[in-house]
Amino acid sequence: MSETMSKIKIRKAVFPAAGLGTRFLPATKAIPKEMLPVVDKPIIQYGVEEAVAAGCEQIIIVTGRGKTVIEDHFDISFELEHQLESRGKHDLLALARQISNLGSIAYIRQKEAMGLGHAVLMARDLVGDEPFAVILPDDVIDATRPCLQQMIEVFDDVQSSILATQVVEGPAISAYGVLDCQPTAKNPRVMEVKNLVEKPKPASAPSKNAIIGRYILTPRIFDVLEKTPLGAGNELQLTDAIRNLLQYEKVYGYRFEGKRYDAGDKLGFLQATVQFALERGDLGPEFRNWLKQLPL
Ligand code: UTP
Repeated sequence: MSETMSKIKIRKAVFPAAGLGTRFLPATKAIPKEMLPVVDKPIIQYGVEEAVAAGCEQIIIVTGRGKTVIEDHFDISFELEHQLESRGKHDLLALARQISNLGSIAYIRQKEAMGLGHAVLMARDLVGDEPFAVILPDDVIDATRPCLQQMIEVFDDVQSSILATQVVEGPAISAYGVLDCQPTAKNPRVMEVKNLVEKPKPASAPSKNAIIGRYILTPRIFDVLEKTPLGAGNELQLTDAIRNLLQYEKVYGYRFEGKRYDAGDKLGFLQATVQFALERGDLGPEFRNWLKQLPL
C-alpha cells in the first residue's frame, strides 16, 4: 500500500434517517423513529456519538418530511439553556450543551423514501471524493470500543469498503443481507467478500455473517449507485450497489466486537432499553432489583 493511500482518513459519517419507520407505528406516525429514546437518549444520538468518538468531523444526516425535530435536537436551545442556567441546574445544562457541541452537522433531504441506496446517494455532494462511513441510526450498538472505530482501524489496513457483520444463527438469517465470504489470514474477523445475498432462505444462506447498519464505503459507490437499477420494493438498494461495487474493488466484511440492537423494531428496542438501563450507574441497580422481583 502506498504512503498516500495509507493517509486516507474517514472524516465524514452519513446517517440515512428519511425512512418511514412503519415497523414502529403508531409511535412513528408523527415522531421520527430516530428520535425514540432508548432510556433517555434518542437513538440517533447514540450513532452520532459513536461517529464522533471514532474521529468523524462531519456528520451528514439525510432527512425527509416530518424529521425537522432531529435538526432541533442537535441545535442550541437558547430558552432551555437559559432556564436551566437561571435555575442553577448545571448538570442538565452541561447535558444540553454537549448535544449541540457534537461537531459539524449538515442536513440534506431525501424527498421521497426511495430506499437506503437512494438516501446514501443524496449525500454525494456533501461527501465528495473520499471514503466515508454510513451509520443506520436504528442499529444501536453496545461496545467497549465504538463499532465504527473498530472498522476504521480495519480500513487503515485494507483501504477498501467494509461492511459490519454479526453472526446470526438459524432462520433469523432470512431477515438480513448475508455475506458469501472468506476469512482473511491476518484477522479472522475480517472477511473478503465474494458476494452478497439479500434475505436468503436459511438453507441457501452462504454464511452466518449478516450485514448490520455500519458501513465504510469508497466514493466509487456513488457512480455505482447511479447505475444500479431499482430493486426489491422498487427501491434503490444499497446491497445491490455494493454487489456491483465488487466488480471494481475489493470489499471486506468485519465481525465487530459488541452487541447490536435493532431499535427500529419493537422487540429490539425493548431489549436495547433494558440492556442500556441496566448498564447505567444511576438507574441500573434499582432497575435490576425491580426486574428480579417480576413474576417471570
Ligand atoms: P429501514 O428499512 O430500517 O427503515 O431502513 P424504515 O424504512 O424507516 O423502517 P420500516 O422498515 O418502515 O420500519 C434503514 C435506514 O435507512 C433509512 C431509514 O431511515 C433507516 O435509518 N432510509 C430508508 C432512508 O433514509 N431512506 C429510505 O428511503 C429508506
